[in-house]
Amino acid sequence: SKGTYDFYMLKEICEQPGVLRHLDQFYLDQNGKPKVSAAIIDALAKADKLYIFAAGTSYHAGLVGKLLFEKLTKIPTEVGFASEAGYHFPMMSQHPFFIFLSQSGETADSRVVLQEAIKRNIPSLTLTNVPESTLAREANYSMALEAGPEIAVASTKAYTAQVAVQAVIAKALGEKMGDDAAAAFKLKQNLALAAEGIEQVVSNQEKIEQLAQKDLIPSRNAFYIGRGIDYPVALEAALKLKEVSYIQTEGFAAAELKHGTISLIEKGTPVIALINDPLTADLMRGNIQEVVARGANVITIVNKSLAQTGDDIILPEVDYFLSPLVTVVVTQLLAYFAAKDKGLDVDKPRNLAKSVTVE
Ligand code: M6R
Repeated sequence: SKGTYDFYMLKEICEQPGVLRHLDQFYLDQNGKPKVSAAIIDALAKADKLYIFAAGTSYHAGLVGKLLFEKLTKIPTEVGFASEAGYHFPMMSQHPFFIFLSQSGETADSRVVLQEAIKRNIPSLTLTNVPESTLAREANYSMALEAGPEIAVASTKAYTAQVAVQAVIAKALGEKMGDDAAAAFKLKQNLALAAEGIEQVVSNQEKIEQLAQKDLIPSRNAFYIGRGIDYPVALEAALKLKEVSYIQTEGFAAAELKHGTISLIEKGTPVIALINDPLTADLMRGNIQEVVARGANVITIVNKSLAQTGDDIILPEVDYFLSPLVTVVVTQLLAYFAAKDKGLDVDKPRNLAKSVTVE
């Protein structure tokens, strides 16, 4: 049940620190060594390329997964919409390995790709929140997301679990392959930091609600911008906001705005900037100036180490590659409050079902 929460979406957002702590217990030992079946790691270690397929929010988790896999294993990783790959199969490397991400394990678009993989003898692993689901049963291997039932149509805790479990697999695989970055990656400590970080974000929800009321609710459209790892988070943040609040939102690689879309910025257009990447933080500030000069109302969500006076939401420090675990929660709350304070049915947005079992 929802307990004391108004909606399942808020309950599930608030459960995320617990999910990360549970995943730590479930998938890492006392010393932070990943506990992943040797058969799965052996099969993955034979791959010369990883292909991640998913839809919607799970696809966005896959985009973060690609960065984790490439950083910790050096295996090139491609992420695709299952719906596209099913009928326009991408070119395969010599030794491909397919990873399916699906909260429900029933998404029809992903099932089509898995059937094709089976026909072609391509090994596959499903990460799902429903261990008895079709995608889990039909793939060669499956791993549980262990997020607990997700009831709200808008996916929240399944996304953070998908990012965390991909980090576990990437570390296990990288360590097996002797990768230095994998050995040095402090996953256990950073999962703990991320769990604390989410708690801080959740305890700041009044501020987030005020921002949603002041800047988002009055607007018909909005933009999220980010660079580096914040770009896939911007895509997920935009999906979440539009899905539940009906405010048309796009996520952008920040510098791309000036290649066309900046023409849509008017006085009062909300632009939400995500800044976790030290390499491009100064460039992000420049991109913010560009939209401010066109009248945008900018909300900044910034890592503590990169914060400046006047920033709106300061994020506690977590390893760059796990920063999406914390950043995304601010954007989930912005979406939640934008929808709730508009009086919408947050848990069941119009036209949507929890699991999409048609192509
Ligand atoms: O169950 P799945 O993870 O396969 O579902 C994929 C998408 O349908 C799902 O993430 C959808 O985009 C959510 N409603 C987003 O909040």
